[in-house]
Amino acid sequence: MVDSIVFDEERIVTTSEQTGDDWQYSLRPRHLREYIGQDKAKENLRIFIQAAMNRNEALDHVLLCGPPGLGKTTMAGIIANELGVNFRITSGPAINHSGDLAALLTNLSDRDVLFIDEIHRLSRNVEEVLYSAMEDYALDIVIGKGPSARSIRLDIAPFTLIGATTRAGALAAPLRDRFGVISRLEYYKPEELVLVIKRAADILDIKIEDKGAMEIARRSRGTPRIANRLLKRVRDFAQIIGDGVITDRIADDALLRLEVDRMGLDRTDRSILSTMINKFTGGPVGIDTLAAAISEENDTIEDVYEPYLLQLGFINRTPRGRTVTRAGYEHMGIPYPEN
Ligand SMILES: Nc1ncnc2c1ncn2[C@@H]1O[C@H](COP(=O)(O)OP(=O)(O)OP(=O)(O)O)[C@@H](O)[C@H]1O
Ligand SMILES: [Mg+2]
Repeated sequence: MVDSIVFDEERIVTTSEQTGDDWQYSLRPRHLREYIGQDKAKENLRIFIQAAMNRNEALDHVLLCGPPGLGKTTMAGIIANELGVNFRITSGPAINHSGDLAALLTNLSDRDVLFIDEIHRLSRNVEEVLYSAMEDYALDIVIGKGPSARSIRLDIAPFTLIGATTRAGALAAPLRDRFGVISRLEYYKPEELVLVIKRAADILDIKIEDKGAMEIARRSRGTPRIANRLLKRVRDFAQIIGDGVITDRIADDALLRLEVDRMGLDRTDRSILSTMINKFTGGPVGIDTLAAAISEENDTIEDVYEPYLLQLGFINRTPRGRTVTRAGYEHMGIPYPEN
């Protein structure tokens, strides 16, 4: 049967990882050549990786920025794999004390990759440990307390820090400046998502027509994680209402039932647009007011919904707040107020 529980409890087009998303790990490409799209980032990284390996040095520290679900964790894993080193994973909120980070760092082997997800959420005192670690491969540790306290310097193995963040702007400047490579991942084009979907269908043994893949791709908010998730849900429909093969008609029908519209907007996106239009005459409306009006968190609106609505050109950000554009009105089927 169709799994309606997942849909009721969590947005199917949410970009963040859901509890049931573990299966997607098996879909993660392991090599740069299997990584679809992001050509600019990929080409640069390929050169930096090769150069570092030729010199027998650790790769420069890499910062990966971009909205959730675009493949930052995947890319970090690939970099470690291509370098042929260990891949250690942690995240900003998981490191509570500077000692925790020091322990992680002293356990690294030569040229290992340490991946810190959500690096903008590191606390300030933990962050400071990173400065000397990144710059000099050293830790400054204070021993003792009061007047007898002294600081000693501990060498650590040369390593590569890969930081991932959805908000490059929230990173402290001294931290940002210590990354040699800053890579911004972009939303994927539908043609690229078609390749992501076909690759996943292949691995999961799902039958899908080219037009079916395109229909899902167009409605996946430029995001591979969503494309994979929609593929799995649509397969359920194909099995029950079709003969198991995903066609464009089945994909369209299934996605409309899942309330994912033809541009990939879901209930919350549409509620943002209709609230802005109906309650605030299309804006400008401040983020706090908007968040309160639709009962969402500011951060969720800013990190998850807004980037895609901006990308589609349905809303604009102005110094006085957000406004709905003509295209936004048209998508909602509401006439644009000419004055
Ligand atoms: N370029 C790609 N080619 C093929 N599949 C991809 C690609 N990028 C991502 N994926 C798929 O999308 C899923 C989500 O990617 P990933 O977990 O790396 O996203 P993320 O950017 O780290 O997201 P978050 O910010 O939420 O941590 C992966 O499991 C993988 O299957
Ligand atoms: Mg991730």
